[in-house]
Amino acid sequence: MSFSSPSSKLSSLLLFALLLGYLIGSSKGGNFSQDFDIIWGDQRAQMLNVGQLLTLSLDTVSGSGFQSKNEYLFGRIDMQIKLVSGNSAGTVTAYYLSSQGPTHDEIDFEFLGNVTGEPYVLHTNVFSQGKGGREQQFYLWFDPTKAFHTYSIVWNKQRIIFLVDNIPIRVFQNLESVGVPFPNKQAMRIYSSLWNADDWATKGGLVKTDWTQAPFTASYINFKANACIWSSASPCTFSYPQFIE
Ligand SMILES: *[C@@H]1O[C@H](CO)[C@@H](O)[C@H](O)[C@H]1NC(C)=O
Ligand SMILES: *[C@@H]1O[C@H](CO)[C@@H](O)[C@H](O)[C@H]1NC(C)=O
Repeated sequence: MSFSSPSSKLSSLLLFALLLGYLIGSSKGGNFSQDFDIIWGDQRAQMLNVGQLLTLSLDTVSGSGFQSKNEYLFGRIDMQIKLVSGNSAGTVTAYYLSSQGPTHDEIDFEFLGNVTGEPYVLHTNVFSQGKGGREQQFYLWFDPTKAFHTYSIVWNKQRIIFLVDNIPIRVFQNLESVGVPFPNKQAMRIYSSLWNADDWATKGGLVKTDWTQAPFTASYINFKANACIWSSASPCTFSYPQFIE
């Protein structure tokens, strides 16, 4: 095999580029133990099956939550979630990206529970430089408590795409050119939490949490971040053409 032919040069260049892509911070294949920290709720949040399953729960004392160890700037992030089943009215499972500080950026999925048999509401929002107010709500086309479904965020310099089972449900375009701030400068962590929000979540707060059903539990598997992991040494300022969709 000759290494001087143009095609093998090209393929080794491609291989090198791929390798470099991995080295400068994409990560594949979820291991919750390696990628996340439990930040709220003590033993109500648990990493199980050698880091392949994470569960959050909510009881009368507290909810629970976790956050990613890494901060990301642009990429595609997938998580499979199975939501609180049965009477989940009053509970909210939030799954989102967020930076820190008063002018933070945020990309939100929030799942508002409901009484048995009534539909969850999927609430989405985007904050840029501390300003939100861009809510859009959806009913899902399946029961999100019966099985795991994939909730994804594709985030690049042009737009943010929210996907459910790979189907785009919302696109938030970068309209900086006409003065709308867009989240493209602050790295974000991944967060999720399960808490009681029965003052507003279900039918605008009319339906309260039925604490006889507690603890409420949501489960997570197959986290994947094909994303630039931010660090001061590698601040993700280069372009990421593979995320332009
Ligand atoms: C996940 O990471 C933990 C801690 O590093 C390790 O003990 C566990 O075996 C890993 N799980 C898998 C499936 O590789
Ligand atoms: C709960 O079910 C009611 C009745 O179907 C519906 O109006 C409401 O949007 C559902 N979801 C929430 C979170 O309130």
